[in-house]
Order: sequence, then structure tokens, then C-alpha cells
Amino acid sequence: MKSNIILALTGLATAVMARTEIMLPLYAGPGGIFGSAEWNATIDAIRANPDMHFYVVINPNNGPKNTSTPGNGGSCNLPGPDYIEHGCNKDYSTNLARLNALPNAQTVGYIYTRYGDQNNRSIDSIKEDIAEWALWDNATTWNFNEIANISIHGLWFDETGTTIGNRSEYEELTSYAREVFANTGPSPRNQFSIIMNPGSNPQTDYEPFLFAMADAVITRETCWTSVPSDPSDPSGDCIGDYTPYDYREMYQGLGNRTAGLPNDPELNSKAVVIVHQVVDPPEANNQTLYEQILGTVRLGVHSAWFTSGNWSQETRLPASVGVVGEFFSRANREVNGG
Ligand SMILES: *[C@@H]1O[C@H](CO)[C@@H](O)[C@H](O)[C@H]1NC(C)=O
Ligand SMILES: *[C@@H]1O[C@H](CO)[C@@H](O)[C@H](O)[C@H]1NC(C)=O
Ligand SMILES: *[C@@H]1O[C@H](CO)[C@@H](O)[C@H](O)[C@H]1NC(C)=O
Ligand SMILES: *[C@@H]1O[C@H](CO)[C@@H](O)[C@H](O)[C@H]1NC(C)=O
Ligand SMILES: *[C@@H]1O[C@H](CO)[C@@H](O)[C@H](O)[C@H]1NC(C)=O
Ligand SMILES: *[C@@H]1O[C@H](CO)[C@@H](O)[C@H](O)[C@H]1NC(C)=O
Ligand SMILES: *[C@@H]1O[C@H](CO)[C@@H](O)[C@H](O)[C@H]1NC(C)=O
Ligand SMILES: *[C@@H]1O[C@H](CO)[C@@H](O)[C@H](O)[C@H]1NC(C)=O
Ligand SMILES: *[C@@H]1O[C@H](CO)[C@@H](O)[C@H](O)[C@H]1NC(C)=O
Repeated sequence: MKSNIILALTGLATAVMARTEIMLPLYAGPGGIFGSAEWNATIDAIRANPDMHFYVVINPNNGPKNTSTPGNGGSCNLPGPDYIEHGCNKDYSTNLARLNALPNAQTVGYIYTRYGDQNNRSIDSIKEDIAEWALWDNATTWNFNEIANISIHGLWFDETGTTIGNRSEYEELTSYAREVFANTGPSPRNQFSIIMNPGSNPQTDYEPFLFAMADAVITRETCWTSVPSDPSDPSGDCIGDYTPYDYREMYQGLGNRTAGLPNDPELNSKAVVIVHQVVDPPEANNQTLYEQILGTVRLGVHSAWFTSGNWSQETRLPASVGVVGEFFSRANREVNGG
């Protein structure tokens, strides 16, 4: 864009807003040969919004281990100590291939890291998951044993530690990941993203190091509401220590858990916002949802996600994947023009 070049040349590049893309934790099951309602809705939204980039986090079993049960697919090699052969679960193979066929979808593998507590989860066991994700390449699907592409193009490190004492562990893990994925050969799209989820701001002294190892960092994961939902529908509940989301209350960090933006404003373009349980009250409807999405795009963050349910309800209104995709596309156009 011409105006960007002119601004950059006049030293005002920071005035140009980056786009805010979609960071979607798709933890719902993929369904079988026909796809689940959640994966279908996701695929439809990705198709309907070709200007948006969708990072899609895949999480079969709190990570890639044992992605199938014997009997599903019928021909799983029973595991070594921990793994059922990847690609053996034809439900995942069939539907991952549908995602990989979309030019604006980037599949990302889930890994949990227990906030750097190595007694809880060792570096070696996390490396096993990284190595396993890197092996996902071709697999047979339900479609008459067609060979399909189930490759993964990034990693989501969940439960990321937030203090400087975590630096060496996460540096070791992320350099290992970049090495292992580089060995799988360059993909035509050349995509590999490391996304870290501390869910809140890291401490100020750790921030530059954490952001340097990652492509994106979730600095704010929270709920829309703190009001408990109808007891018959606990999925609407915000469980945990969350302050309800309002983009107007996002400010540059100082390591404050509730701040949401990094301490260093230069890092906003790597920060990610995730808001779940977008339900009443306060009013959750198209208008309030769009207001919050537009305000979030104006913050200049890397990517974001809003959902009316927990991690596995992509069709629940108002913040279904279709509506959220459309609203982010519209908000990016409103902020950046065009
Ligand atoms: C998902 O979409 C496929 C067609 O692409 C359709 O056959 C299937 O019934 C859909 N699944 C659900 C749960 O609606
Ligand atoms: C995977 O399955 C094996 C064999 O049943 C089991 O020993 C192992 O604990 C499982 N691992 C996970 C992560 O579920
Ligand atoms: C491991 O971490 C999980 C999640 O943070 C926690 O619920 C569990 O109690 C921890 N286990 C141990 C043995 O520390
Ligand atoms: C995967 O499939 C591609 C395209 O058909 C093929 O070029 C490649 O050799 C296959 N890789 C493996 C490990 O089978
Ligand atoms: C990593 O960060 C967590 C807080 O997120 C902290 O409790 C833990 O002590 C840190 N680990 C080390 C080794 O300093
Ligand atoms: C599999 O799909 C991904 C995403 O479209 C692509 O980058 C990769 O090159 C494909 N791999 C093969 C073997 O076609
Ligand atoms: C999310 O909500 C669905 C539907 O109520 C429920 O079945 C599922 O267990 C919930 N998952 C989590 C992780 O809370
Ligand atoms: C963090 O931010 C909240 C909300 O603005 C404020 O009330 C609190 O005093 C701040 N805490 C620190 C340690 O700065
Ligand atoms: C909310 O917005 C979506 C997407 O534009 C639209 O399909 C839907 O009809 C709207 N819902 C209401 C109640 O206006």
C-alpha cells in the first residue's frame, strides 16, 4: 500500500495499524467422514472471509498423544509407551486435510507446559509432543483411503510461565521446535508460528525475552462476563480469576496481570487477546460484540478470538465463528481502509 511506504519513509511507521487476524482454539472434535458442526462452521467461516488469516489450534488429547483409540480406523499400530501412530485417527486426518486445503488457514498444534514446573511436566516430555506434531504429514482418510495432508504449521504452548526463571526452559523448547520443524522441509507457504499462552502479562523483566522467542503471545485471556450462567448450562460460566473484557480498559503492561497490553508498546503487534463466554450480562449481541472487536483491532494486536462458549462451541451465538470472522474482516477494513 502506497500510503504505508510514505509513512515509513517519513518515520511515522508506528501510525500504520497492523491487521488483527484470528486466533482460534478449535478444541471441538472434528466429527467423522462428514465433519462436526463446529469444524464445518469453522471451515465455512474461513472460506467466507478470504481476507482474514485463521490460526487454527488443533487439540486432540491435551496435545498430540494417543490421537486415536484402537478401533477408530481399524488399523492403528498400538503404541510404544505413549503414542498411537499419528494419522491413525481418520476423523482427524479427514478433517485436518479439509483445513489444510484452505489458503488462509494455518494449523497449529496444542502443547501444555504447566507454567515451567518441570516436576509436573518435564522438558523431555514436552519435546516428545513437539517431535510428534512435526511428524504429521500424510495420512489416509475415510474417503476410500485417499492420502491427505495433515501437516501442522505452528505450535501453541499453553500454560506458559510468566517470570524470568522460565527463560532457559522456554528458550530450549522453542529453539528445539524451530529446529525440528525446519527438518520437515520448507512448505510452499513457509509458515511456522510459535504462539505462547501465559494468559496474562509476563513480568516486565521477562517480557522482551518471551516475546523474542515467540511469534505471538496471549497477554490477555479472559471472559466477557463474570456473572454465573444458568446452572443448567455451566459452559456459560467464567471459571477462574478473570476480569471481564473491555478493550477500553486495556493498557500498556508494567507486568500487571489485568493490563492486557505488553509493557513495551512496540510489542502490541505480537500480543493476542482471547475472550470466552460472550454471553449476557452485560449485553452480548451483535452491536456490543462488534464494538469490542473494532476496539480490539484498533489496539493493533496480532490476533484475537471471541467465543460465546468455552473452547468447543463454535456455533453458539452471538459470537459464533461465522459472525466473529465477518466482524473481524469488517473491523480491519474500517480501521485500515479499503
Ligand atoms: C458438515 O458438512 C458436511 C458437508 O461438507 C455435511 O455432509 C455434514 O452433514 C455436516 N455436518 C454437520 C454436523 O452438520
Ligand atoms: C497413551 O496410551 C498408552 C497405552 O494405552 C498409555 O500407556 C499412555 O498413558 C497414554 N498416553 C496419554 C498421554 O494418554
Ligand atoms: C500440575 O499442573 C496442573 C495444572 O496447572 C495442576 O492442576 C496439578 O495439580 C499439578 N500437579 C502437580 C503434581 O503439581
Ligand atoms: C506426502 O505426499 C506428497 C504429495 O503427494 C508426496 O510428495 C510426499 O512424498 C509424501 N510424503 C511422505 C512422507 O510420504
Ligand atoms: C515460571 O513462572 C511461573 C509463573 O507463571 C512461576 O510460578 C515459576 O516459579 C517460574 N519457574 C521458574 C523456574 O522460575
Ligand atoms: C500440506 O498442506 C500445507 C498447507 O497447505 C502445505 O504447506 C504443505 O506443503 C502441504 N504438503 C504437501 C506434502 O503437499
Ligand atoms: C464446553 O461446553 C460443552 C457444552 O456444554 C461441554 O460439553 C464441554 O465439556 C465444555 N468443555 C469445557 C472444556 O469446558
Ligand atoms: C493493575 O491494574 C489494575 C486495574 O487498572 C489496578 O487496579 C491495579 O492497581 C494495578 N496493579 C498494579 C500492581 O499496578
Ligand atoms: C448478527 O450478525 C450476523 C452477521 O452479520 C447476522 O447474520 C445475524 O443475522 C445478526 N443477528 C441479529 C440478531 O441481528
